Amino acid sequence: MKIIIGSDHGGLLLKNQIFQHLKDNGYDVDDVGTYTADSCDYPVIAKDLTSKVLESAENLGILVCGTGIGMCIYANKVKGIRAAHCTDTYSARLTRQHNNTNVLCLGERITGFGLGLDIVDEWLNASFEGGRHQRRIDMVNELDRMR
Ligand code: RB5
Repeated sequence: MKIIIGSDHGGLLLKNQIFQHLKDNGYDVDDVGTYTADSCDYPVIAKDLTSKVLESAENLGILVCGTGIGMCIYANKVKGIRAAHCTDTYSARLTRQHNNTNVLCLGERITGFGLGLDIVDEWLNASFEGGRHQRRIDMVNELDRMR
């Protein structure tokens, strides 16, 4: 399993903290940028990250921008991506257990470093429960056939 992380300039500092945290905890991490504080476009990063997440069903992605919202809007338009914008650990846990999310979105201007890392840990340590939740995900995926 690989964890791909990415941010725009608005999420750079939190993304870098997450990168180090995941490395320290032994995860295989791929950082797709951005790497400087220069202004950049979050859709470019989200496009790169989501395509890498989809290379393996085992992969997970973490996207950070100023609010986490632009990244989440983009990611959820990509077929096969289920992204959640989380500002608390309860939502982070439940969105793995019930929604089987494969991308977590965070807002650096909303969520501090301490809580941000806790949200990441809670999300990574939770597992999809399947059953009725898979049926509901299948119902959501029906939308892909209507586009
Ligand atoms: C950049 O200023 C900001 O718009 C971006 O980081 C993000 O919050 C967009 O949703």
